[in-house]
Amino acid sequence: PHRPCLFQPLRIRGIEIKNRVVISPMCQHSAEERGCAGAWHLVHLGKFALGGAGLIFVESTAVEPGARIGVRDVGLWSDEQVAPFRAIVDFVHQNGAAIGVQIAHAGRKAGSQALWEGGRALTMEQLRETGEPWRRIGPSALAAGPEWTVPDALSRSGIAEIRQMFIAATERADRAGFDVLELHFGHGYLVASFLSPHSNRRDDHYGGSRDNRMRFALEVARDVRATWPQDKPLFVRISAVDGTEDGWGLDDSVILSRALKAIGVDVIDCSSGGLSDETRNMNVPRGLGFQVPLAERIRREADVLTQAVGVILDGPQAEAILQEGRADLIAVGREALYDPYWPHHAAHDLGHDLRFDDWPIQHGPWLAKRA
Ligand code: FNR
Repeated sequence: PHRPCLFQPLRIRGIEIKNRVVISPMCQHSAEERGCAGAWHLVHLGKFALGGAGLIFVESTAVEPGARIGVRDVGLWSDEQVAPFRAIVDFVHQNGAAIGVQIAHAGRKAGSQALWEGGRALTMEQLRETGEPWRRIGPSALAAGPEWTVPDALSRSGIAEIRQMFIAATERADRAGFDVLELHFGHGYLVASFLSPHSNRRDDHYGGSRDNRMRFALEVARDVRATWPQDKPLFVRISAVDGTEDGWGLDDSVILSRALKAIGVDVIDCSSGGLSDETRNMNVPRGLGFQVPLAERIRREADVLTQAVGVILDGPQAEAILQEGRADLIAVGREALYDPYWPHHAAHDLGHDLRFDDWPIQHGPWLAKRA
């Protein structure tokens, strides 16, 4: 029988992803002490492996303790963080999925509350009370919005230090056994803030022209590609449009994506927005598949694999995106929180795996006997 596109494997470098369903990185703000993953992460991520996803991303994982999105986010800035991730990687592998980690520096948006606490920026005083070395940095001394403090503009030596942090986190991600690494260059965090002319007003060779604003992103990508094993895929998440007038736009993203591909980046994960408070709820309507046109144009014009994400609700919608050649991978976020078995259910909606052969062996044979 014909296999839907959504359930066709994809091989990138040495890694085989068994289908096209990716679990999007999602902050849990639930780390154990010192940014270590724990039982929450094992169960949270492990359930997606049982649910049939091809590739599961760990949430935004900080390269520096004071550069987390939230105060209880996980990190890869320290060797003690490797073993807890290794346990999760092993479980996911034993259950047939590939697993990636998204590494990030939150830049001028470091230190916010979890959404269940309000989702607002914390004050520097609140951050200092944690006893950790929090800091907000950016290309220029411009705040992300009224609720944020003004970041320190990074010096040249500061930029070099951050590059080393990305390299060190990449080495640890490899030791933890991750199959895929994703660089978080979107949502207004550090690297994104270098790309947009609104947040980057530098007058050295990291600011001004588009090439200059792209320089830091390309340096980090090149450093990481040289560190991450050649047989493992490298993804980059971008905000393909930053959501501001005259800001970073889709034409810019096509050019950036071509440059990233030339460096050896395998997949561009096409998100949008997040540069500042004003753009938190972007003007782009958040309708069904609203970011798919970004993945489509980058795929076509930069000739690179793309991952589509954002309000992709069910199997038929995901299947149509792939069949129409608009993306190569489909990332689901909130729908996977709603239904961790989303991939298996999508398969059934598409008339695939009706005998439950792809379900965990502990469950599938029983489900096949179900009336
Ligand atoms: C997110 N998102 C997100 N994105 C990212 O790049 N790194 C992250 O750590 C997070 N964290 C996060 C936490 C939670 C709870 C949610 C719901 C979302 C964005 C996410 O990956 C995805 O791009 C969006 O949620 C849009 O996809 P859905 O949810 O419409 O499928």
